[in-house]
Amino acid sequence: MAYESDLSFVYFNPTKTSFGVNTVKSVGIEVDELGCKRALVVTDQCLCDLGMVEVIEKALGAKHAGTFNGCLQDSGVHIVDQGYAFAKDLEVDCLVSVGGGSVIDTAKGMAILLKEGGQLMDYAGMQMLRRPVTPHIVIPTTCGTGSEVTFAMVIKDWEKHQKLIFADYHVLPRVAMLDPKMVEGLPPMLTATTGMDAFCHAVEAIHSMQAEPMSDGMGMHAIRLLMKYMPRAVEDGHDLLARGQQQIAATMAGVAFGNAMIGLVHAMAHSIGALAGVPHGMANSILLPHCMTYNMDVSAEQYAMVAEAMGVKERGMSDEQAGEAAVQGIFELTKKMGVPQKLSEVGVKEDVLQEAAVLSLSDGSIVYNPKPVFEAEEVLGVYKNAF
Ligand SMILES: [Fe+2]
Repeated sequence: MAYESDLSFVYFNPTKTSFGVNTVKSVGIEVDELGCKRALVVTDQCLCDLGMVEVIEKALGAKHAGTFNGCLQDSGVHIVDQGYAFAKDLEVDCLVSVGGGSVIDTAKGMAILLKEGGQLMDYAGMQMLRRPVTPHIVIPTTCGTGSEVTFAMVIKDWEKHQKLIFADYHVLPRVAMLDPKMVEGLPPMLTATTGMDAFCHAVEAIHSMQAEPMSDGMGMHAIRLLMKYMPRAVEDGHDLLARGQQQIAATMAGVAFGNAMIGLVHAMAHSIGALAGVPHGMANSILLPHCMTYNMDVSAEQYAMVAEAMGVKERGMSDEQAGEAAVQGIFELTKKMGVPQKLSEVGVKEDVLQEAAVLSLSDGSIVYNPKPVFEAEEVLGVYKNAF
């Protein structure tokens, strides 16, 4: 969708980003600058076992009040409650989360409760908070989710089998510390699939109903960096230049979709993830080119921008031709990194597709898709193409 003359938007990006090899060693200074004295590290057992948390604890020195390592794969209401009780006992005044999306989301939930008390459930929804939460510094150990710069979080109520969505500007972390050393050990397939999650964030921000020039700029450069450096990081995890540039790209893509939102790719990836257990980045990677083909008749101009950022737009190409080149370029990119190309290759059975299609229609992301999707049959068609 081209911009209209009556375009109006809000762009919000208040998270301070610090980048560099060993930048995490200045986490104590960041705590100081926030006016805090007692920091709680929020993480999981696995990262503690790998020795990655110890580096942060040492860097915090006397400001390290304790470590909560109870985070699990899917952030849960009860885990946030446990973390909150732990943090309250220690009288902490800021949180330093060290981990991937689930850890960061758990810490976001804890930051709400530390400020407001009560039940997490009370704050589910859009803009339910009226003041900033407890300061939160994020040190990501994956490079794709963009959670370090987004205002949203998902916490599962494991008892009610329900996912609670929170979206609130007050939840935005205060500082994101991107240190290539913290992602050096990420295995190749995770590097590729989390990187493709970031790639999807960039493309979906650019094709979103809520797209605007500022988030487009963030998305476009994220794509340039991912094209150049993601395959390098997959091939050689110790290539710290490539690692760092992928981290920066993931954060920029996070800023892009945190403002412009996401669309059909994420709606379908959430559904197939919930019903068939396909990891988020893997599902996004497989579905992205097929969703672009579905949207092509309304988004060719945007996909021509994507092609330009990917370096596959040739002189004289129409928007449609450039958009098609972007689609083909994504297939080639994922193939080159060894990411599966079809849902059938990652354990999805055909009989689950109908239910996933119906579920996708009720996913919040779908409303921002550039081409309105009303019928489950349309989504099913895209799933079948990706099967
Ligand atoms: Fe995502």
